[in-house]
Amino acid sequence: MRTQVGIIGAGPAGLLLSRLLALQGIDSVVVENRSREYVEARIRAGILEQNTVDVLTEAGMGERLHREGLEHRGIHLQYPGTRHTLDFPELCGRRVWVYGQTEVVKDLIAAQLAGGPPLHFDVTDVAIEDVDTDSPRIRFTDADGTPQVLECDVVAGTDGFHGPSRAVVAEGAAGQRLWERTYPYAWLGILADAAPATDELIYAWHPDGFALYSMRSPSVSRLYLQVDPGERIEDWSDDRIWEGLATRFAHEGWEISTGTVTEKSILPMRSFVSAPMRRGRLFLAGDAAHIVPPTGAKGLNLAVADVVLLSRALVRLLQDKETDLADAYSDTALRRVWRATHFSWWMTSMLHTTGDPFDAELQLSQLRRVCSSEAAARELAENYTGLPY
Ligand code: FAD
Ligand code: DHB
Repeated sequence: MRTQVGIIGAGPAGLLLSRLLALQGIDSVVVENRSREYVEARIRAGILEQNTVDVLTEAGMGERLHREGLEHRGIHLQYPGTRHTLDFPELCGRRVWVYGQTEVVKDLIAAQLAGGPPLHFDVTDVAIEDVDTDSPRIRFTDADGTPQVLECDVVAGTDGFHGPSRAVVAEGAAGQRLWERTYPYAWLGILADAAPATDELIYAWHPDGFALYSMRSPSVSRLYLQVDPGERIEDWSDDRIWEGLATRFAHEGWEISTGTVTEKSILPMRSFVSAPMRRGRLFLAGDAAHIVPPTGAKGLNLAVADVVLLSRALVRLLQDKETDLADAYSDTALRRVWRATHFSWWMTSMLHTTGDPFDAELQLSQLRRVCSSEAAARELAENYTGLPY
């Protein structure tokens, strides 16, 4: 097999890259080691920043998003005695949408299978070769067990945090660097058949720990509790989870709405950046190169920003035979990555309790500041809704 861009991983980054390239007349093949059912069911992010919605809409992926997505004008920030609303359009003229990553992925897969570039699920033994030449290749075994060789002009490593691409960059790129921070807390996340008891998302600081009230639709809530990273999900009955949530979101005259829990899991929290995001003809995008803790809702949005930049660089490289954008890709992408890394770390540090009373007072002081100063609120709003590309 031969293609211009071989794409490893059918997460949001790989699927969107394939779509953006196809719209520019560049062909690609996507290989994914999981099944279509698995990829479409993986519950992850839920908030799309304005840039992401604009990109998906321009790529012809906005039809269901605009019909079923929930437009949000702000968030509520809560700490004991206060629930304060930040109005994003007022603060920065931008807004966000609630539309699950699962739905974005389903839309992209449906479009790709309806006459788009080839997409191979259930592949195994993916190996990347000769990325320091102009003709790299991907070897893999297809779902029928047949070994395949995919000859490419470029390989895109959009294979997430656990995929093989980052290690290939690390082996050969000059001056490769890694930065990592593991946080001393995790999120217990649930999906529940319960109408959200709030119009906007609630980010709540509480002495017991952080809690986040989000949603997926007018009848489905998505809720998170800060827990210790060593906690086991089996020790959290539904009743214990609802009690924890009710305590942390408690606010005068307001009540949480409960319902059947349909999914629950514990997510570790880390910041991670790997640079450069390129070795020769292999380019990394999305979680393959960086991870942010989820508090700022940036992971998926950052993957989309990488892919927009990468698609432009690859069009220029493969159509115009100009290397300038490809050469600038890693540095340009990393500037946005570090902004999102800082914002996600800042939100995480402001909202998660550590058990240290000094930390708690600093956090409450910062929260009071964001809720009383327009300048401080605008800084949060601009980052949360997404800085312009
Ligand atoms: P991924 O979505 O990870 O896609 C990578 C793809 O590559 C996957 O389909 C994987 O199966 C495939 N792959 C891996 N190895 C191979 C291989 N060897 N061969 C072929 N394919 C391979 N972000 C938020 O903003 N808010 C959230 O609430 C949030 N919750 C999250 C919860 C979890 C459990 C996780 C893991 C992430 C969460 N994120 C969240 C982050 C967000 O989901 C990611 O930033 C986003 O998925 C990045 O997209 P991606 O395409 O780069 O990577
Ligand atoms: C969701 C996740 C986040 O990390 C966040 O900051 C907001 C919403 C969600 O899954 O809905």
